[in-house]
Amino acid sequence: MPSPPLTQIPSHVVALEDYEALARTHVNEAAWAYISGGSADERTLRENHAAFERLKLLPRVLGDFTGANTAVSLLGRTLPHPVIIAPTAFHRLMHPDGELATVLGAAAMEACTVVSTSATVLLEDLATAAKGPLWFQLYMQPDSDHTLDLIRRAELAGYEALVVTVDAPVNGLRNREQRANFQLPPGLEPVNLRGRPALPMCESVFDPAYIAHLPQWQHLVWLREHTKLPILLKGILAADDAARALDAGVEGLIVSNHGGRTLDGAPASIEALPRVAERVSGQVPVIVDGGIRRGTDVLKALALGADAVMVGRPILHGLAVAGPVGVAHVLKILRTELEIAMLLCGCPTRESITKEVLWG
Ligand code: FNR
Ligand code: LAC
Repeated sequence: MPSPPLTQIPSHVVALEDYEALARTHVNEAAWAYISGGSADERTLRENHAAFERLKLLPRVLGDFTGANTAVSLLGRTLPHPVIIAPTAFHRLMHPDGELATVLGAAAMEACTVVSTSATVLLEDLATAAKGPLWFQLYMQPDSDHTLDLIRRAELAGYEALVVTVDAPVNGLRNREQRANFQLPPGLEPVNLRGRPALPMCESVFDPAYIAHLPQWQHLVWLREHTKLPILLKGILAADDAARALDAGVEGLIVSNHGGRTLDGAPASIEALPRVAERVSGQVPVIVDGGIRRGTDVLKALALGADAVMVGRPILHGLAVAGPVGVAHVLKILRTELEIAMLLCGCPTRESITKEVLWG
């Protein structure tokens, strides 16, 4: 039986990997396979970490740090640090309060939270509870009226942006999850989609009935015309797709391989970032996620052209271990580590972080 969430963090929990190890004892085995797993042989999942390990930082000494800070500005808002909570599904698998606990933890660290379409708490209830900025992650629905309904609800509730995820038109081959026979427990569902039809069950993704529901570029253009909220497109790895997204009028891009959960064999997102950032050349903000576990990883991402980063699984680990306290602590660790990394690399502010921070 998994242990219940803690009310106090044990003193040996000092880094995100400690949260991961402890979280395992708070989550049942099948749910653990669901959150930890990637697709197929998990090559991309491993690459997300290996690629950060290959990058080295160049320390600099004796700089002036008067007024140093980790602030970034994004879509007209200043955030005190560049770490955003990535959209992940089903937080009630991790903690009885689910996403409510997550947004409370985020508030303590003034972090922006991206709420998943597959959240287990109503998006309106999250907006009432949240003290910090919320973005809504949208999976375009098979029926455009349902998509519009989700957008209107997010707008009304005060969400500040839409994160439209486009890299998962089909679930990845989640072999780890299948082997563990993961199923959503009774009573746990994506409540914001209640009563909405899912994609048709088809033997083949090339079945015309399945294909008929796949979102295409024209749907993004349609979406852009139907909301005033800024749209960030999530799941971009190809520079050509980034360019096409800019043509469609998006306000931001998220370089991501869905935490290695969709196409196995895709590059690490940190590896794909420089080409996308180069193509975008500052026209819209670029965010990256996948494998960020240390403040030094955040610094590397900023050095390679990201305006901010998102973290997925570590937030779920914090949530499972200690609810809002765990989420806040995970964010606090990353922020503290980023400050130290910036100090040791001679970077007092976001503006001072350039490719020069990287060795070689
Ligand atoms: C995800 N991710 C995801 N993305 C999305 O747009 N909508 C979603 O509902 C989910 N759900 C989800 C569930 C779980 C359990 C995981 C681990 C991931 C992908 C997520 O937003 C993000 O891209 C990755 O998690 C980033 O990688 P790290 O930080 O987990 O390594
Ligand atoms: C996942 C889906 C929900 O990654 O995006 O599990």
